[in-house]
Amino acid sequence: MNKQTLFIAFSTQKGGMGKTALTVLSASYLHYVKGYDVAVIDCDYPQHSIVEMRERDIERVTNDNHYKAMAYQQFKTLQKKAYPVEESNAADAIGVAERLRQEHKLDFIFFDLPGTLNMAGVVKTLAMMDYVFIPVSADRVVLESTLQFAATIHDNLITTGKSNIKELVLVWNMVDGRERTKLYHAYDDAIRELGLQVMKTLIPDTKRFRREMTETNRPVFRSTLLPVDKTLIKGSNIEELVNEICSIVKK
Ligand SMILES: Nc1ncnc2c1ncn2[C@@H]1O[C@H](COP(=O)(O)OP(=O)(O)OP(=O)(O)O)[C@@H](O)[C@H]1O
Ligand SMILES: [Mg+2]
Repeated sequence: MNKQTLFIAFSTQKGGMGKTALTVLSASYLHYVKGYDVAVIDCDYPQHSIVEMRERDIERVTNDNHYKAMAYQQFKTLQKKAYPVEESNAADAIGVAERLRQEHKLDFIFFDLPGTLNMAGVVKTLAMMDYVFIPVSADRVVLESTLQFAATIHDNLITTGKSNIKELVLVWNMVDGRERTKLYHAYDDAIRELGLQVMKTLIPDTKRFRREMTETNRPVFRSTLLPVDKTLIKGSNIEELVNEICSIVKK
């Protein structure tokens, strides 16, 4: 592991594409399974979905013996705490990141940013990312507006040298199992012609994304305190996603 702390964002202007879900899934897998040290800064005012998810997770782990035992076991095995989840606004997020970096030894800081580029501080903060991953689904309208978003970042921040962004990478999310991989690869060629990268890993559309800690004590998919449960990881491509992120960012 190298010592530099990388700033990473799943970002897009299109709502509901999986920014928050992929942020949490990647952060938890990197921190609890791959052994990296992670922090998350939730700048998505006013939803602050990750801060709220952490609160729900803590409530469950505190009051439910099944999850309490799991979290305790994990803590004993890993000998490391849960990753910090900080609340911020987009404009102050880099300041929060600098403080976190002084307080903890960190490999990755994930930023969950608002989708609107015209909100105060969003562009400035986005420009400080080392890598930006853009979740997108294979819907023509979504794809067109997403490519416009990517092109805006590419033309205004990357080619002008006004940012730290090393790569801008699209990620296919909510992939319908019945659609052919071939279709996606046809899109990929068009996307690459625009000078953009696309991840090889496709994230399937799966009901597992709804699985948080519940009173039924079923295996957990999405949590800030636990990684994707082993019984749910197969076919979710979360492991593949994280491995591909590591290879892109060279960690
Ligand atoms: N691959 C997937 N399969 C099934 N459901 C998914 C998948 N990815 C995301 N979801 C679900 O879609 C919804 C939107 O995802 P999420 O909240 O992560 O998007 P977002 O980009 O953060 O949205 P917002 O613009 O509101 O911040 C959530 O309910 C999430 O669980
Ligand atoms: Mg979100």
